[in-house]
Amino acid sequence: MSFASASRTSPRPGVFADLRALRACWHPVAFSAGLSDKPIHADLLGEPLVLWRGPGGVRAMADLCVHRGTALSLGWIRGDELVCPYHGWRYGADGRCVAIPQLEDPTRVPAKARVPAFSARERYGLIWVALEEPQWPLPEVPELEDSSWATLQAGPYRWECDAARQVENFTDFGHFPWVHPGLLGDPDRPVVPKYDVRTEGNVLHYSIVRPEAPNSDDFPVFANDQSGPPERRSTYQLHLPYTIVLRLGWGGEQGMVYFFASQPVGVDRSAGYVVIGRNYNLGQPDRVLQDFEDTIFGQDQVVVESQRPERVPFDLADELHLKFDAVAVAYRKAMRALGLATNAPAGYGSGSGSGTGAG
Ligand code: FES
Ligand SMILES: [Fe+2]
Repeated sequence: MSFASASRTSPRPGVFADLRALRACWHPVAFSAGLSDKPIHADLLGEPLVLWRGPGGVRAMADLCVHRGTALSLGWIRGDELVCPYHGWRYGADGRCVAIPQLEDPTRVPAKARVPAFSARERYGLIWVALEEPQWPLPEVPELEDSSWATLQAGPYRWECDAARQVENFTDFGHFPWVHPGLLGDPDRPVVPKYDVRTEGNVLHYSIVRPEAPNSDDFPVFANDQSGPPERRSTYQLHLPYTIVLRLGWGGEQGMVYFFASQPVGVDRSAGYVVIGRNYNLGQPDRVLQDFEDTIFGQDQVVVESQRPERVPFDLADELHLKFDAVAVAYRKAMRALGLATNAPAGYGSGSGSGTGAG
């Protein structure tokens, strides 16, 4: 994993995602399967975190030993304590240092010897962290916890853009025939059907029946039948700030759920996690859908990383919105209304928040 370079976003006036407000939301930081008996590093909203799994569950703390600033993610786990690799100081799950081996009495720890600890939990095969008391619960997706559905994961897709750019791309109907011809769209049918967006609290709801590409021989992943121009019914919930629950149907019993959550790594860095559930093709190897997602996200990445600014500008006077961009318009309005996007104070956002470590 490469180390993120300094932010490419020069300070500019405008309305952008507010990294301080976003601290009070759950965000994905890793797949659960990626966290076993060793601590790992993750960046969230510019905070370097160490994630580790003790007997009491998943832990998230600042990845910075209070003694000499060493990355605790290079250390190891002992019982329900995390050991710093440099001088062996041991930290409990609440971030307090509980032992300093260099002392005659290692338990005589000064009160200042502690690091910030954050709320962490596991659900849908992901580890979620909130840096402050979260305002909203995680979305409920019963299909992903139903044993008659098969689930698989794809990603994380690490992009050089903010999480809002990554989320808007996922919800953007107009690009399918152009960026994903033959896979998600048909270039001969580029018209976006009419749809409405309803905003309730922090969730946008919308549905669309849209033309889709026939299943390709390379990726026989959808349940559309091959007679007539294929269509799919897509029902979306966009849970602000950065989680999408998309349910796909083709008019029968067969259904698919796409769960997409973007990790706001820093000001202009994101990582997208995909969890897919389906009640058909249960025997199909996970690799088929994972290859499909890798292809789709690879096609999107080139285009989205070229967008300037690298962050979604939430002022509706920025960029040009047409009727079929109604999701982006509703998203931008709702993010502002909930205080998750605000006028960037001078200089804010250029220094803080860019990824600082290997993710
Ligand atoms: S730097 Fe962590 S114990 Fe010294
Ligand atoms: Fe796309």
